[in-house]
Amino acid sequence: MAIPSAFLDELVARSDIVDVVSDYVALTPKGGSYWGLCPFHGEKTASFHVLPDRQLYHCFGCGKGGGVISFVMELENLPYVDAVRLLAKRAGMEFPERDMDESSRRKRARLLALNKEAARYFHSQLHSPVGREGLDYLRRRGLSKGIMTRFGLGFAPESWDSLIKAMAQKGFDKRDLLDAGLAVSNQKGSIYDRFRNRVMFPIIDLRGDVIGFGGRVLGDATPKYLNSPDSPVFNKSRNLFALNLAKTTKLGRIVLTEGYMDTISLYQAGFDCAVASLGTALTADHAKLLSRFTKEVVICYDSDTAGVQAANRAIPLLEKTGLKVRVLRVTGAKDPDEFIRKFGPDAFSRLLDQSENYVEYNLRQIQSKYDLSDPVQKTEFAREAAGMLAGLDSPVEREVYAGQVADLTGIGKPALLQEVSRARNSKYWAAKKKQTRRDMTPVTQVQPRARQMRYENTRSARAEEGILRLLMLDGGLIRETAGLEPEHFSSQYLGKIYAVLRRRLLEGRAIQLGMLEGELEREEIELLAEILRQPEALEQGTKAMADYRAILEAEGMKKQVTDETDLLALRDKLRQKKSI
Ligand code: UTP
Ligand code: MN
Repeated sequence: MAIPSAFLDELVARSDIVDVVSDYVALTPKGGSYWGLCPFHGEKTASFHVLPDRQLYHCFGCGKGGGVISFVMELENLPYVDAVRLLAKRAGMEFPERDMDESSRRKRARLLALNKEAARYFHSQLHSPVGREGLDYLRRRGLSKGIMTRFGLGFAPESWDSLIKAMAQKGFDKRDLLDAGLAVSNQKGSIYDRFRNRVMFPIIDLRGDVIGFGGRVLGDATPKYLNSPDSPVFNKSRNLFALNLAKTTKLGRIVLTEGYMDTISLYQAGFDCAVASLGTALTADHAKLLSRFTKEVVICYDSDTAGVQAANRAIPLLEKTGLKVRVLRVTGAKDPDEFIRKFGPDAFSRLLDQSENYVEYNLRQIQSKYDLSDPVQKTEFAREAAGMLAGLDSPVEREVYAGQVADLTGIGKPALLQEVSRARNSKYWAAKKKQTRRDMTPVTQVQPRARQMRYENTRSARAEEGILRLLMLDGGLIRETAGLEPEHFSSQYLGKIYAVLRRRLLEGRAIQLGMLEGELEREEIELLAEILRQPEALEQGTKAMADYRAILEAEGMKKQVTDETDLLALRDKLRQKKSI
């Protein structure tokens, strides 16, 4: 959201974190900082820490942390913009509604226009000599020309700047291409095309705007698919591939798949009701979105264990929105795309009709863990099944499925129902207890996600953290970062934070954690708060910066060597293939 940055900076400067937190939490000063009972989780001893000099809060118990805006977001359970509104009111500042709407609207419109032009360009390349290989590839995968057009498929040539050049002719500059995620900048600050030598799948939202792309390699190189990063117009956890088409299906349900190709294959076979998530797990937002367009979702993921696990995670999310959920398991093929190609549309249609509702599916999953010919295991199975049935709200459903379990085990239905109601009672009490606890802490329960971000290269990442900490504590050190680019960071999160800090510092603006909260994701702020909390000796900032940079460089060099080795190996492989 584009709230004018000067306004935000002033707001944060005027909203001291100790003052704001004190509105909600009793704080006790201790050695230059403050402690209190964490408002985000129930506790008896104070592990909630507020540091006025760094303008951040952090809880040692639940791991939450951030600046003044994220504190209000968490505590009042508000989206970013509303938290800013609330703080503005508190600080007696007028919220600039009109500027904000205008500038963010303009930016979005520009990125959408660019994406549309890019999609046109990729599509035209697919049907030009350069795109020959791409077209052959899609044909080999069984797609007709009509389907390619229907989905607006395209091809990104093997070139570092063909898209950049084509878009420059249409009046789009470097900044636009970077913001849309269509280009990436390299170590020297020049930019190159993100998608090269890939077939392109435009992602189109419900309004018909192109909001991003997925690009697939033609061979076996990795990553198999490259997707646009999230941008002001693209959010992977709120959009689904092909929902723009599936929303008007007459088939009465939506089939949820894992992949672009699954969805397209299904569509070509006459199932115009397929959608795919965008290389991420299904989210609650996805579920809500689906529930606006259908009453029934059929999960049709890959047949491997990852697919089964993903289905298990998706079921409760979909259920929660009131959707009827069924699970379709493809057999004899790894995914729906392969299934359709092997066995044809009629076979798929039969599978669709036989798809199990989620209770049957769950029962079967539980059953597969036990050997029912063994009396002990049979009892265990009955107990676990009863526990699952206890979670069903409808007594009719409980009755019906208890009957099925009775048939499977030969245990009498009354005995099973008794077991179900026993499990229900203990579940009821557990839920009730949880509810009371939640009532005391009126916040969304967010995991301390910062901890879950894994670093690929820990040594480099520690140094990268150090660089960020130094810059946050002494902005003047930006002078010591000449030549250091976000792409040099081994962690994309840290690189992104660096880019934001550097831009602000070069513009001569202040940086406090609270001022960054509109530009960084929630988990990035949490991560940054955690980084900032660590001690740093500032007396020798210049030296420390040089040390950190040396580590980055050394680690980066190692990586480059492996990358290049891979490239050489690849080239050799290709040569061998050609000479056969
Ligand atoms: P799969 O690996 O199952 O690919 O990933 P697929 O759909 O069967 O692809 P084909 O048939 O080999 O072309 C499923 C989805 O996960 C995301 C993509 O959205 C893909 O469609 N994905 C996969 C990525 O984002 N990146 C990857 O490197 C791989
Ligand atoms: Mn697949």
